[in-house]
Amino acid sequence: MQKNIFLDWSEKLKFDGESFPRDTLNRAKYAEFLTHFLVGQGYDTTRESGDEKRNYVLNLNSEWGSGKTYFLKRWSNDLKNNFPVVYIDAWQQDYSDDPLITAISSIIKQLREQADMPENSPKIQLPKKALGLLKAAAPGFARSMAKRYLDMDLAAFLQADNDSELKDAKDGEGNPIDLSELASTMVKQLIDEHDGKKKAIDDLKIHVANWVKTVTETQKLSYPAFIFIDELDRCRPSYAVEMLETIKHIFDIQGIVFVVATDTEQLQHAVKAIYGEGFDARLYLGRFFNSRFSLKAPDLKSFWKYIPTSANYRASI
Ligand SMILES: Nc1ncnc2c1ncn2[C@@H]1O[C@H](COP(=O)(O)OP(=O)(O)OP(=O)(O)O)[C@@H](O)[C@H]1O
Ligand SMILES: [Mg+2]
Repeated sequence: MQKNIFLDWSEKLKFDGESFPRDTLNRAKYAEFLTHFLVGQGYDTTRESGDEKRNYVLNLNSEWGSGKTYFLKRWSNDLKNNFPVVYIDAWQQDYSDDPLITAISSIIKQLREQADMPENSPKIQLPKKALGLLKAAAPGFARSMAKRYLDMDLAAFLQADNDSELKDAKDGEGNPIDLSELASTMVKQLIDEHDGKKKAIDDLKIHVANWVKTVTETQKLSYPAFIFIDELDRCRPSYAVEMLETIKHIFDIQGIVFVVATDTEQLQHAVKAIYGEGFDARLYLGRFFNSRFSLKAPDLKSFWKYIPTSANYRASI
């Protein structure tokens, strides 16, 4: 049975070196509602044994500048009293070039802090060996490696309609390629890569699930763990898409719920920048999320009334 969580944002608050004004947009009630909803999705003891914990990805959609970061930061700060929580500013970390490494390093750092464990604590740590494997597990890696290694596009090879299309295949230096040998090399490499990749991903999932368990046990917190991803629509399009792929394929771990805040319209433009204007970006993005929730755009009058601009100040003296 889930306990009720009440959120009170009626006072301004300072945490992690940042100040947050009081909630003039009446958003705390949305955070309460979503907490209740996501806890039910991520952990429900009334479900059948083995199915209590689930993975869930919510897209929190709201326009540019309408208060997503405020909402996510205040909400995540409150949730820390009850659940394991990680907040990732994807844009600040965009330089890392690898969304998987970004996510993993933020998860380790913040769960460690929440568990009150020192930096080198072995309980929340990724073995060095796994890091190398992880690089190899990054989405798209197998394809790009195959292309570089064989100097021809693997997808084109596999999709060729008939043998004659490939009969005259040549390598990068114009030498004819022995296709039977090429095929067996490629298949072997694909299998090896696939095995290594799958094992790396499975290991990683076990590690992350164990870290979450450690935090819940040591701090007496409940499931699910919440992972917030902010500012994705500001990132380079390819990075944003890779981050979503990473969440979907690597972090589909039971007992973890994701909240991905985006200006969805903006993110759709980013996707079209990769796949072309005619591409159905809305449908494509939809497959990454279990559901979408939109924050209403703020009523500007009530919003600005509370922001001390010099004009407001002059009017009041
Ligand atoms: N509920 C709220 N009550 C009072 N002030 C708010 C509220 N939400 C946001 N603000 C203020 O509005 C401004 C913009 O909010 P915020 O940065 O959260 O928007 P955003 O949607 O994350 O913007 P961006 O799309 O640029 O990332 C900030 O100064 C923030 O403190
Ligand atoms: Mg923001």
